[in-house]
Amino acid sequence: MAGSLNGRVCIITGGAGSLGAVTARLFLEEGARVLLVDRAQEALEAAARELGDGVMTHVADVSDAAQTRAYVAAAMAKFGRIDVLFSNAGNFGSVAPIASYSDDDFDSVWAVHVRGAYLACKHASPHMQPGGSIVITSSVAATRGDAGVYGYITAKHAQVGLMRCLAKELAPRGIRVNTIHPGPIDNGFQANVEQGLSEELGRDATAFFDELIPLHRHARPEEIARSVLYLASEQSSFTTGAMLMIDGGMSV
Ligand SMILES: NC(=O)c1ccc[n+]([C@@H]2O[C@H](COP(=O)([O-])OP(=O)(O)OC[C@H]3O[C@@H](n4cnc5c(N)ncnc54)[C@H](O)[C@@H]3O)[C@@H](O)[C@H]2O)c1
Repeated sequence: MAGSLNGRVCIITGGAGSLGAVTARLFLEEGARVLLVDRAQEALEAAARELGDGVMTHVADVSDAAQTRAYVAAAMAKFGRIDVLFSNAGNFGSVAPIASYSDDDFDSVWAVHVRGAYLACKHASPHMQPGGSIVITSSVAATRGDAGVYGYITAKHAQVGLMRCLAKELAPRGIRVNTIHPGPIDNGFQANVEQGLSEELGRDATAFFDELIPLHRHARPEEIARSVLYLASEQSSFTTGAMLMIDGGMSV
């Protein structure tokens, strides 16, 4: 079978979640072997059962350095190489005016998105070969500000800084680094966000986003996964340091 990821070993964090699991399915169809990492053990096991052969799981909190070293070591022990890192785990935190924003929420969102991505890259990249690819899930939130979204929006901006530094450091080794920037996705993560925002906005946040998005709808997780595949594979061999918008035009 000629898949665009034949023989490739891919680590996917947030692998028990919507985008992580859908991307894992696509990667497997393209011939990859996959290590799914998540802190939600039951959901991780359920995702792996559903995905079938070619998947290994590792329970870890991505914000913890020792646990990051352990999942990278598990990938090396099982597969002997790492070709693709999809750093994708995420949480949302809360929405509140700056004066009452929760410091704990701020720290926990930065711990997952920024420290988590940093640690994943720090520990996985030394094992990666020329032709390797790192994809970090940022968001359309990296291109805009919204009152009250202090943890999530600042963290999604910070991931771009990480990506740009790494793209320069790793280019001489033939490893590419890019961020993806999905707009609202039709999944549970976004449904939770919108439930909270509806109260803030005083109107239905799902409809609010659909009006804001030029394509007038949320993305399907599969549509985001196809862009991750593009960046993970040789199809994007001259693309590094890029912010790939997958937002139905929301940032235009
Ligand atoms: N859903 C959207 O509309 C949307 C839009 C733009 C960007 N994103 C980003 O996409 C990524 C994937 O989100 P999703 O929509 O699939 O949501 P999801 O909630 O289905 O998946 C996120 C996964 O990350 C895991 N996770 C959270 N904290 C963790 C930690 N400390 N260690 C290990 N795992 C952890 C969760 O257990 C969950 O399985 C996130 O980075 C999110 O910010 C989502």
